[in-house]
Amino acid sequence: MKYQKICILGLGYIGLPTASTFATHGVQVIGVDVNPDVVHTLRNGGLHIQEPGLRTLVQAALRSGNLTIQNHPDQADAFIIAVPTPFRENKLADLRAVEAAAQAIAPYLRKGNLVVLESTSPPLTTEQRLAPLLERSGLKNGEDFYLAYVPERVLPGSILRELIENDRVIGGVNRESAEAARDLYQLFVRGEILLTDTTTAEMVKLMENTYRDVNIALANEFARLAERFGINVWEAIELANRHPRVNILRPGPGVGGHCISVDPWFLVEAAPDLARLIRTAREVNDGQPHHVVELLHQTFGILAGLRVAALGLSYKADVDDLRESPAIEICHLLQKSGAEVVAFEPYRQESQAEGIPLAKELSLVLQDADLLAVLVAHQDFRNLSPATAAQTMRGRFVLDAVNLLNRAAWEKQGFQVVKVGEGRR
Ligand SMILES: NC(=O)c1ccc[n+]([C@@H]2O[C@H](COP(=O)([O-])OP(=O)(O)OC[C@H]3O[C@@H](n4cnc5c(N)ncnc54)[C@H](O)[C@@H]3O)[C@@H](O)[C@H]2O)c1
Repeated sequence: MKYQKICILGLGYIGLPTASTFATHGVQVIGVDVNPDVVHTLRNGGLHIQEPGLRTLVQAALRSGNLTIQNHPDQADAFIIAVPTPFRENKLADLRAVEAAAQAIAPYLRKGNLVVLESTSPPLTTEQRLAPLLERSGLKNGEDFYLAYVPERVLPGSILRELIENDRVIGGVNRESAEAARDLYQLFVRGEILLTDTTTAEMVKLMENTYRDVNIALANEFARLAERFGINVWEAIELANRHPRVNILRPGPGVGGHCISVDPWFLVEAAPDLARLIRTAREVNDGQPHHVVELLHQTFGILAGLRVAALGLSYKADVDDLRESPAIEICHLLQKSGAEVVAFEPYRQESQAEGIPLAKELSLVLQDADLLAVLVAHQDFRNLSPATAAQTMRGRFVLDAVNLLNRAAWEKQGFQVVKVGEGRR
């Protein structure tokens, strides 16, 4: 199938790079977002998210005349839905944005069009939730229009490269739909394109993230055991991973982001009687920020009144994304314990985030701090000198939740250091 014009709904971390990449590969793209700020910013040459190389790519796409930004869809050969699929307070999937996008597409849907869902979704969403809404157009899925689920597996920080190079799983409601979607994605994907059905593709995406979540939960549990037995889990994991068929991931302050900490709940919701290990892993990782604060209590005693310099608020290293971040939860728990928390997040310029005041520079956050809490392994923090910290800080307490600091160097400067996963005998 040939595609001249496509419409992409949702211009976030996934939709915007995808829209711009199609546009720079010669396809006319209508980028649609319901957030007026996003539309306004992009139309005026700005960018509302940070991702290496994205500014240049978006500018090239806009300059080519192939990318236009709108707040509503239009007729096109194909529609791609890349809207958020978060969960609600009760951990149940919130599919309202997917449903709204489908309803917005239906009036523009024509015979022979392709509709693709990219948003991470619970099993059977494409068949049971999306298809009926699109069929309000009067057209039948798989017969009058093609319908496919195409999950995304890019790594934030490397999105532009991985978008092109990663292998891509494409699930169609029938073979023709999968092939129609393959014809679209092979315009820029250089990785292998693998065809299957929609529900398998939905499961594949959820299985990938659940696998990582369970593995990290295991690492976090190993860290707690190591703390109890007085050994160093980081050394133990390195040694265990010398086994040719073992690959334990890293423990840390918990699991965040809108993917790994969210997606496994979709499986728990879909089959609570079966997804028991998955639920437990989620609970272990969700409990990790509490565990870290408890570790601080046990080591340093009362936290009330301490001034804490928190390094990093994002959900992982070297990204600006704060969604579901365990670093933020640790800061909130410290605030609840009566500590005064100021954070430095090199990827955010605002004066506060989620009720946590932000310092503009690393040197400023350290000023008069009693406790330094390294919560994210940003590159910017790797060269932090204990001698400089000793000059600026008031107290001598350090928490390293990500195994970034050299304990001996900090102890030499008189700091008392607590590290996740490092027991002391
Ligand atoms: N970011 C990642 O690394 C990543 C990786 C794999 C999968 N995913 C999945 O991709 C999907 C999108 O994630 P994201 O990170 O790009 O989200 P995002 O929050 O960065 O962007 C989504 C955009 O969609 C817009 N939107 C919401 N409802 C809309 C509607 N009805 N019509 C048009 N626009 C609408 C929002 O305003 C927002 O700008 C999610 O399901 C996510 O789980 C994300």
